Amino acid sequence: MTKISTVDELKSYIAPITVYEDYLKLSAKGRRRLALCPFHKEKTPSFSVDTDSGLFYCFGCHKGGDVIKFIEEIERCSFEEAISILARKAGVELERSGRYNETGGEDGKKREKLLNLLSFAAGYYRECLAGSPEGSPVKRYIREREIPENAVNELQLGYAPERSSLISGIIRAGFTKEEAVEAGVLKESKRGEYFEYFRDRLMFPIIDVGGRVVGFGGRTIGKDEPKYLNTPETAVFRKRDLLYGLNFSRDSIRQEDRGVLVEGYMDFLSLYARGVRCVAASLGTALTPSQAALMKRYSHTVVLLYDTDEAGQAAMERALPILLGQGLKVKIALMEGAKDPDECVKSIGAERFRELLDRSEPFFRHILGRFRARDLGSVEEKLKFLDYAAPHLSSIPDPIEREAFINEFSERTGLKKSLVVEKIDKKGPAPKPSEQPAEEEISLSVSEHVLVKAALSGNNDFMKKLLEIPPKLLDSMASGRLLRKKLEGTYITDEKELKLEAFVKNSCHEVQSVDDIDGAVYSLEKELLEKNRREVTLRLRESREKGDRELEEIYTRELLAIVNEAKNIQNTRFGSLKGD
Ligand code: UTP
Ligand code: MN
Repeated sequence: MTKISTVDELKSYIAPITVYEDYLKLSAKGRRRLALCPFHKEKTPSFSVDTDSGLFYCFGCHKGGDVIKFIEEIERCSFEEAISILARKAGVELERSGRYNETGGEDGKKREKLLNLLSFAAGYYRECLAGSPEGSPVKRYIREREIPENAVNELQLGYAPERSSLISGIIRAGFTKEEAVEAGVLKESKRGEYFEYFRDRLMFPIIDVGGRVVGFGGRTIGKDEPKYLNTPETAVFRKRDLLYGLNFSRDSIRQEDRGVLVEGYMDFLSLYARGVRCVAASLGTALTPSQAALMKRYSHTVVLLYDTDEAGQAAMERALPILLGQGLKVKIALMEGAKDPDECVKSIGAERFRELLDRSEPFFRHILGRFRARDLGSVEEKLKFLDYAAPHLSSIPDPIEREAFINEFSERTGLKKSLVVEKIDKKGPAPKPSEQPAEEEISLSVSEHVLVKAALSGNNDFMKKLLEIPPKLLDSMASGRLLRKKLEGTYITDEKELKLEAFVKNSCHEVQSVDDIDGAVYSLEKELLEKNRREVTLRLRESREKGDRELEEIYTRELLAIVNEAKNIQNTRFGSLKGD
């Protein structure tokens, strides 16, 4: 695979429009493409992409920038993750030692090293699985668990043998044992001996949304405890920030606008490999706010599908406030007769499993379902049930839905609505769905707009004309720095400048001729002179009031010069002031 080591290089391998097309329905309008903005709600398209630069700008919410910025926003990911995603789309490999941004540093290098080691280990485990003979315990396990063949490849499953040559492989690949311990694939005994962390386990590589292996989950093939073993917390593996499988499923989750949350690796595998792809697994810990936020990047609706045993149901109830707290809409699907999604999909098949998902109900209906008129007949029992339900009720993010469930709750239990509302108010208001702060609108005078547009056109005559702009004038302009860089041919990396460029590229003003540039420079000069005149007049007045004759004379002369200059540009327009 082609290796690249800078952002410029990466960009040269990508046709930006194709990246936008992956996420949006674009319609052509001249050199621009328009779409409904994915970053705010709207009915008419104000999201625009300029086809030749690949820069986007939304005239509604004022987000804008290059294709990397777009990926950062739409995947809600970091710059590093965005460039990994783009590299994969482009089919190139990022040179590990490359410098992609300024914040790499020593920590960044360490991370890279560990990530490379993990990727090496994943490859090693994969080979071990591929090399296992047909009748071997791991192959038998795969068959007996009815793991579909495509799952092994797609999910990059592997096998960590009982006796392995992982250690020597790691050394040969140029890593140290200490690094392997830091990455969580080896462990060191008290006597200073090194052992493989995973033995005789079916290996699930855990891959972040940037597509990089950050850790593993390993299921024992035999009877070892624990049944599932995860990579310990490392510099690159933070379990509470990850959902297993999301790297594979996020496009489906976005397309279906729902994410199914399951507990186990096997549940994920079983659904995903059978074509129910909008799924992710919570890695067996109590769900964290950060995992909920991760899900929310791709969909606003989560369907909870936890094991039907008591532990699963308890975990589900703990997950509810976490998900609701992130402003997610939560639904609950019911699996009749199966202990977990894996067993369920195997028994009823993908099609009927989908129907079961379609029948999932708002979570509060499930809570209401716990009310049994016979068991909870007495007022005391009802009030206890209210105590249990009130925090759930108050955490429903949508006020209309909340109101509807308050009514339903009161009808069902026979408790007065006012009593229910009072209880909820005491529990405090529902958490507001977290909203992103609005982007700042770009304000650029029409004249500056014309000049930037001219600079971005690449037209030679325009460029020549622009080079005549007096430096002082450039210094005074909001777009001065961007213009300078464009005239010098400097690559733009500054986020603000990129956004400005994107804004102008996507606006429909057109520069027709050199005269337009002349006109714009003329009015900017007039404006600048007028601003200076006002300032000098003010100073002049101050110096008179103070009785400072010397200053007064200086400002008088300055004022005179300004007036002359104004006359001058009026007569000759632009040109005679060059090099003043
Ligand atoms: P389960 O025990 O329900 O897993 O634990 P499962 O997927 O049904 O297991 P199989 O079908 O017997 O293979 C659910 C999840 O809890 C975590 C894992 O993430 C598992 O997928 N877990 C469970 C652990 O981390 N360690 C354990 O020892 C057990
Ligand atoms: Mn299970």
